[in-house]
Amino acid sequence: MNLTETTEFASDVIAGLSSHPKQLSSKYFYDDRGSMIFKDIMQMPEYYLTDCELEIFKNQKADIADEINPNGIFFELIELGAGDGFKTIVLLNYLVQQKINFQYIPIDISAKANENLQYALQLSLPNLALDCKTGDYLKLISGLTGASPKIILFLGSNIGNLTENESLSFLKQLRNVLNKGDKLLIGFDLKKDPEIILKAYNDPHGHTTAFNLNLLHRINAELGANFNTDYFYHEETYDHQTGTAKSFLISKKDQSVRFGKTNNIFRFTANEKILMEISQKYDETMINNFAKNSRFTVERNFIDSRSWFIDSLWKVE
Ligand code: AVI
Repeated sequence: MNLTETTEFASDVIAGLSSHPKQLSSKYFYDDRGSMIFKDIMQMPEYYLTDCELEIFKNQKADIADEINPNGIFFELIELGAGDGFKTIVLLNYLVQQKINFQYIPIDISAKANENLQYALQLSLPNLALDCKTGDYLKLISGLTGASPKIILFLGSNIGNLTENESLSFLKQLRNVLNKGDKLLIGFDLKKDPEIILKAYNDPHGHTTAFNLNLLHRINAELGANFNTDYFYHEETYDHQTGTAKSFLISKKDQSVRFGKTNNIFRFTANEKILMEISQKYDETMINNFAKNSRFTVERNFIDSRSWFIDSLWKVE
């Protein structure tokens, strides 16, 4: 991280731990170790989101390809937060096989994630036109000033880690950097049996706990704090009414944590919670409202066989 990013990280962490109730932002989960733990999460049988979206891509790739490329002209396929491209590669493979004329532009905030993706794609799809970009999603998209249509992929229900206001503001900003005819394929995890959702986040393998505690390790390493991760445990809640799953770290005892670099001291009482992440679940009304309120038109929904997940295709009219 550069100095500005470190300063932003420090001020966000300090503001979050000074608020009542305490909270930290899950956008900081993804350092190198966090990204690796997230890969473990995605491979857990309980974490159904990956399987659902993979099934959609495997079974409906021809329909998706027809919808994103109706006129057969060159387009830019831009993926936000591509990670290891595990699901997208199914679509990319198909598009390349069909000799469809496009360039794949994955954007990630992590240079390391991009390096790995570039390496993997060059090996598995040597004929793919590829241009990995590292940095801020919206800035990079608005920098793509060519006349070609843009198809944005925002998969995995990543939108669900933003609050409702943050989501709407992000979608509005995204809409504003797109042009008439551009499209967005966006993944939403749907409301379902609460037990299924809780199992995906309260994993028996300990990966989700490790994912959350990794942020405390990161704060220790980068901000000189002295969190003892043995003194916190992870808990997930899900409210079917609102569709919001919440991830917490809970203090096992009264304790204080000192930040060496900034001289802050934070006190935790026994059972006090830190809100670490929200993972919003949706229904079709919520999805339609998001599209409408950010001035997109829903063109088509691609749904998995269990109706647990939607990849919704939106158009700029
Ligand atoms: C990246 N995001 C959509 C994941 C989710 O399901 O909210 C992050 C995650 N957190 C715990 N498990 C997975």
